[in-house]
Formats: sequence, C-alpha cells, structure tokens
Amino acid sequence: MKIVAVNGSHKGKNGNTDTMVSAFLKGAREAGAETLNIFLAGKEIRPCRACKVCWFGSPGRCVIKDDMADILRLLKDADVWIWATPLYFDNISSILKVFIDRLMVIGSPYWDKDKDGECRHLTTSVLPKLMMMSNCGYPERSHFQVISHWANRYARNLGTELIGEIYTSEGALLSTKVTELLPKILDYLQVLETAGKEVVTTMRLSEITKRLLEQKFIPDQIYVQEVKHYVDSMLKG
Ligand SMILES: Cc1cc2nc3c(=O)[nH]c(=O)nc-3n(C[C@H](O)[C@H](O)[C@H](O)COP(=O)(O)O)c2cc1C
Repeated sequence: MKIVAVNGSHKGKNGNTDTMVSAFLKGAREAGAETLNIFLAGKEIRPCRACKVCWFGSPGRCVIKDDMADILRLLKDADVWIWATPLYFDNISSILKVFIDRLMVIGSPYWDKDKDGECRHLTTSVLPKLMMMSNCGYPERSHFQVISHWANRYARNLGTELIGEIYTSEGALLSTKVTELLPKILDYLQVLETAGKEVVTTMRLSEITKRLLEQKFIPDQIYVQEVKHYVDSMLKG
C-alpha cells in the first residue's frame, strides 16, 4: 500500500500539522506501507487559471509550468491520499486550496449524477481513498465543522471515499515544551501511529482510535488561561 500525505501548513516540517502526519505515517510504515510526506510550503504552485486547456487543449496536461507536475507524479499509484492542514479562519489553508484546485487536471470534463442524484465530475481514473487531517489553535472541536463538511462534500465530488478524519484541537500543545504535558502528547502520538496501522490493515479507523483521537490535552479553561499568559509574555517582550 502507498500512502501520500500533502501538508498545507506554511510551517512545513516545523508545524503542528506535521507532528500529526509524521506520527500517522510512522505507524503506517510499521504496518508495511510505503509513505510519502509532501510539504507544499516552499513549493511553487500557482493558482488554476480556469483556462481548461488540461481538458480540451492538451488533455491531462496543465499549461502552468511549476512544481505541480512533480507532485502529480508523486501522487500517482497511491492507495490513500492524506490532505493535511492547519485550520485557518475555519477553513483549510490557502496553499492546500491552491493545490486542490490544480487537481482539475485529473478530472474529466464530463459530469453525471451520482447515486444520490447529485451531479459530480467524472474522473479519468479510479482515485485513491482520501483522509483529512487538521489541527487548530482553539480548544473546541466545533471549529472543524467547515473542514469536515467540506472534506465529505469534496470526496463525493471526486467520486472517492473519505475513509478517515483526524482533527486535533488545542493544536499548539503538539509542540509544547511543558514537561508535565509531554506524556499526554506522546500518548496521543502513539494513538496516531495506531491510526496509521489501522488504515493500512483495515482501510478505516476503529471506533476506539477515533474516540482517543478526539481527546483534549487539558481542560478548556486552563488552556485559555495558559494562552493568555503566553500572549501577555510575548507582548511584554
Ligand atoms: C492565518 C491563521 C488563521 C488561523 N485561524 C484559526 C482559526 O480560525 N481557528 C483556530 O482554532 N486556529 C486558527 N489558527 C491557529 C492554527 O490553526 C494553529 O496554530 C495550528 O497549530 C497551526 O498548525 P501548523 O503549526 O501546522 O501551521 C490560525 C492560524 C493562522 C496563522
């Protein structure tokens, strides 16, 4: 099995998003998968021009010459694609969205109704299963409502299956240096590894893993207070 993660954090390898993705991919590798971790930060990916040359002029080829062609090659033959992003103003990051729009090149210009009677683009090939991963600064899980709704709609539009969603609130704590919190974070990373193994062996996340991945690291009130202290200290210089 080949799993390819595409990370839309502007912090790339230094981000909280990668802390999640790397743990998941580690588990997947231990279960025998081949994994690739692609960071969009630092890549040149220009926005789709909507020229539709990739459909009608030179089918399957985009006119924009940038890093997208290399990424498309890496995405090939994958069984699972992971789209990973920090939550930015209740949504996916801009670089992930620009990347996703550029996937127009793998879509077919033909539409048809799906089994629920809604139109969607046909694809030129069978697409990999999809997983969505995100983390956010706020403590409540409700902040992921838009991303989750979008991921489900998007998978339908692509004609593939969303096999898992992993959302971590209090994401700042994934990179905490607070010694008392480290065991909790390490436990959480262990659960992410288990999630990676489960996807390789069963193509889904077990209910217990899903529940464990929804845990909070510390209660909301303490987290909010700690963030306030942090902001105070940063502003004092
Ligand atoms: C432009 C921007 C917008 C953000 N918007 C939100 C938001 O709407 N809700 C939230 O909980 N966190 C928000 N955050 C916080 C990030 O989601 C959080 O810091 C996350 O851990 C960043 O992940 P990364 O380290 O992988 O980039 C925002 C951060 C930035 C830079």
